[in-house]
Amino acid sequence: MFGKLFHKSVKNVDVTEIDKDNLPLHIGIIMDGNGRWAKKRGMPRNVGHRSGAETLKKITTYADEIGIKAITAYAFSTENWKRPKAEVDGIMALLREYLKDYKKNLGDKNAVIRVIGDRSALDQDIQDLILETEDFTSKNTGVILNLAINYGGQSEIVMAVNDAIKNGEEITEGSIENHLYTKELPPVDLIIRPSGEKRISNFLLWQSAYAELWYDEVLWPDFTTDDLNRAILDFQKRNRRYGGV
Ligand code: FPP
Repeated sequence: MFGKLFHKSVKNVDVTEIDKDNLPLHIGIIMDGNGRWAKKRGMPRNVGHRSGAETLKKITTYADEIGIKAITAYAFSTENWKRPKAEVDGIMALLREYLKDYKKNLGDKNAVIRVIGDRSALDQDIQDLILETEDFTSKNTGVILNLAINYGGQSEIVMAVNDAIKNGEEITEGSIENHLYTKELPPVDLIIRPSGEKRISNFLLWQSAYAELWYDEVLWPDFTTDDLNRAILDFQKRNRRYGGV
């Protein structure tokens, strides 16, 4: 399978070098650059978000094909409510469409869709769609796609600590971890942020403790499977010491 998938050399990366036994298990993606992508084309920002949502579908399908276990994609942060109403409404409309596509089996047919973040602030119909999509895809066996919506890393940690206290648990790294949204997922090995920004922006703060970070100038709507290959190859060249020597 890898021979077929990884058959060409792209952007000076020989993809045959990718080691299928050392893939990042869980990749976090900050889907940045949608607004600039649209601006460059003289189009409204929401056109960029729409294109970004299409990119996410392609990347999810490809990640599934090559055996990535989980992706967490930052679709809407707790701070994104500060954006103009038209943009927020546009992203919410896209989210409805995106979830409906998965319900109709139009997204990656093998992906398991889950949503992390405080969904209680979302419109009721979106909350219902989330539940239906999670249920509809729950028996799939492919990549888990976590959509981070109304998500913030700091509030996730506060929630986890409060839940542990409510359960009468001692506060330890393990007990906090057991109450994070990502508790059932493999550790985050790699965080990808396109568009030239080098910030973590309240994304997977706890989970990124030992994640490798990969930045690039490419804007998210232009991000291709070749870019994912580049990020994976770069990840495989890192010397991960987890604080040891
Ligand atoms: C950051 O780019 C992107 C966002 C805040 C929204 C990301 C949303 C999507 C990709 C679409 C919705 C997702 C789904 C799954 C339906 P930016 O707007 O900050 O770009 P800029 O920095 O160039 O302005």
